[in-house]
Amino acid sequence: MVYASANMSVMEKRTALITGASAGIGRELARVMAADGWNLVLVARRESKLRELAEELIGSESGQRGVSVQVVPIDLAQPDAARDLVEVLSREDIEVDALVNSAGLGDLSPFVDSDWEKNRLMIRVNVEALTELTRLLVPSMISRGGGCILNLASVASFQAGPLMAVYYATKAYVLSFSEALAEELRPEGINVTALCPGPTRSGFQETAGVEDVPALNNRLMPSAASVARYGYRAMMRGRRVAIHGLPYRVLIFLSRFLPRGVVVRAVRRFQATRSGA
Ligand SMILES: NC(=O)c1ccc[n+]([C@@H]2O[C@H](COP(=O)([O-])OP(=O)(O)OC[C@H]3O[C@@H](n4cnc5c(N)ncnc54)[C@H](OP(=O)(O)O)[C@@H]3O)[C@@H](O)[C@H]2O)c1
Repeated sequence: MVYASANMSVMEKRTALITGASAGIGRELARVMAADGWNLVLVARRESKLRELAEELIGSESGQRGVSVQVVPIDLAQPDAARDLVEVLSREDIEVDALVNSAGLGDLSPFVDSDWEKNRLMIRVNVEALTELTRLLVPSMISRGGGCILNLASVASFQAGPLMAVYYATKAYVLSFSEALAEELRPEGINVTALCPGPTRSGFQETAGVEDVPALNNRLMPSAASVARYGYRAMMRGRRVAIHGLPYRVLIFLSRFLPRGVVVRAVRRFQATRSGA
């Protein structure tokens, strides 16, 4: 379903595809990008949330300026999801200038007790869908002379994370993949940015089961909107790694000088407060 205000042409505008647009950072990125004149393709499982957002954006000032919003409900954990999504794009004749991979989920539990299905979903959505969608969309960006990719990594990308072992490993993958791709695609005019937020207020805490962990869920955490504004600026400036928040930039820099075991034990203490694991 395409939402567009009828009185203005949308053809000359740039188009961004945003996964994870039904909530949190992805939803805020959609608001920021619509305000900056991007046409949007919104992707997530919860169609009603995507439609609500599309209607909000079309009813807003961005809509009055002719932004169009397309909603594609899809479960990115399904093996054919990325290909199905790209088929929808080609049927609708949509070329993607910016790919924003924000869909993702976490889980807090000792690995040995973890729910395998949740681990599988994390690997599928955080790693496989992000990688396949990028692989499928980059060739058309190259043939049109450029584009942007914004991947949601995390401050968790920089070290191992006991009690969230799989989640941290998926985010290490996203950072490594994004930095490598940024170098490969630079001559093609494609910017790749790994956005690395710390704990941020969103639906993430509930999905990851960390609502009771003070370090991962408190009122001092930044809003998804502030992370989205920062991430969008970083993408537009072509930054390769964008760590949100000065304290995290300092911590990540200093952690390079510490033995890895010390850092990993500190992360475990940081996360263990709920279960005492
Ligand atoms: N919040 C944080 O503390 C934090 C910190 C660092 C990095 N991040 C990263 O930021 C990204 C966005 O997280 P958030 O904080 O915005 O969390 P959120 O509010 O829970 O949003 C997650 C988004 O991912 C989508 N999603 C999850 N599983 C999906 C699936 N199988 N298929 C399609 N879409 C799916 C959800 O949509 P549906 O449920 O509608 O499918 C939702 O739109 C994630 O990659 C996360 O790892 C978050």
